Amino acid sequence: YHVTWDIAAAEKGGYDYFMMKEIMEQPEALKKTIQPRVTESGIHLEDVSLTEEEIKNCGRIHIVACGSAMHAGVVGRYVIEETCRIPVEVDIASEFRYRNPILAKNDLCIIISQSGETADTLAALREAKKQGVKVLAIVNVVGSSIARESDDVIYTWAGPEIAVATTKGYTTQVSVLYLIALYFARVRGTMTEEAYTAAVKELHDLPEKTAEVLKVDARMAEIAKKYANCENAFIIGRGLDYAVAMESSLKLKEISYIHSEAYAAGELKHGTISLIEDGTLVVAIATQESLLEKTVSNVKEVKARGAKVLAIATEDCTAIEDVADEVVYLPKVNHLFTASYDVLPMQLFAYYIAVERGCDVDKPRNLAKSVTVE
Ligand code: G6P
Repeated sequence: YHVTWDIAAAEKGGYDYFMMKEIMEQPEALKKTIQPRVTESGIHLEDVSLTEEEIKNCGRIHIVACGSAMHAGVVGRYVIEETCRIPVEVDIASEFRYRNPILAKNDLCIIISQSGETADTLAALREAKKQGVKVLAIVNVVGSSIARESDDVIYTWAGPEIAVATTKGYTTQVSVLYLIALYFARVRGTMTEEAYTAAVKELHDLPEKTAEVLKVDARMAEIAKKYANCENAFIIGRGLDYAVAMESSLKLKEISYIHSEAYAAGELKHGTISLIEDGTLVVAIATQESLLEKTVSNVKEVKARGAKVLAIATEDCTAIEDVADEVVYLPKVNHLFTASYDVLPMQLFAYYIAVERGCDVDKPRNLAKSVTVE
């Protein structure tokens, strides 16, 4: 009697790649990150030592990070500005540190890093501290350099992430930004009690809804087959949908090597539309009801030039159906939280395209999980 024992397969929990295992771990990772910090009475951030006074007087927030963590920051900007009415800037860490950033003593710096070891991000943290600004870090690896050097740390409890392309790292970072936004909004009195309570409930339910949305898996595998041979892709959206387009585009290009660009839908006509020709793939993310009409008209513009359009929309955004070739619907949620859901079909889309193209999904060429050199 002989048992064949494949350690590599066992580590992947039965999945072909770590990336898929990690995509499917998102509900659990989000649960661990969110639920201990949310009760019926509101958000609890014991890990944050900022006083109510400091939160009330906060002048400006500087979110600094690299790669997908920076894209999480772009989601954070929309959400924090809307809920807390604090101006937020998002910087790429390697730019921030070399442009002599203007920081005031009552500003706050939010540093985001899965590994907690990215060289440029760590250097940006040191720059902020040198200028006397408080640093709050969102980090996944306990005891990492960024976690040790920041004033406060809110951990994402995503567990180890092995695939180079981040999935659960990113979505848990976004969830922590929601926690911060709601926590600050409460202190600053910038949300009505009703809106706050609804948002807290939505955040609490995010892990379960994430599991629901991930059932789109088989559908994305089918759709990916159709587009696996494309050479260029454009991912468009407005507002929060644009923030998700940035991350979706990075996922696609890093693991499938398809050239992909994220564009704010309204900016298309100022350049990129010249690249649209017969059969070009355009993914339109349309989950913001208030911006739907505008996005629909941008989709018409690319359709008129021969694009193939895949739309990711929420159930209330059905007007997109008349103009797109294909629509993947997500459940309707509070408009602030769509970012956590739209990215899920796009992670799956990137994954299946990469598999179709025979790419090494977990270890894309030229990329490293953690970039500890400049
Ligand atoms: C690398 C990874 C990206 C990641 C970025 C920032 O480039 O390939 O997936 O987003 O570093 O990493 P960090 O650990 O700081 O979040």
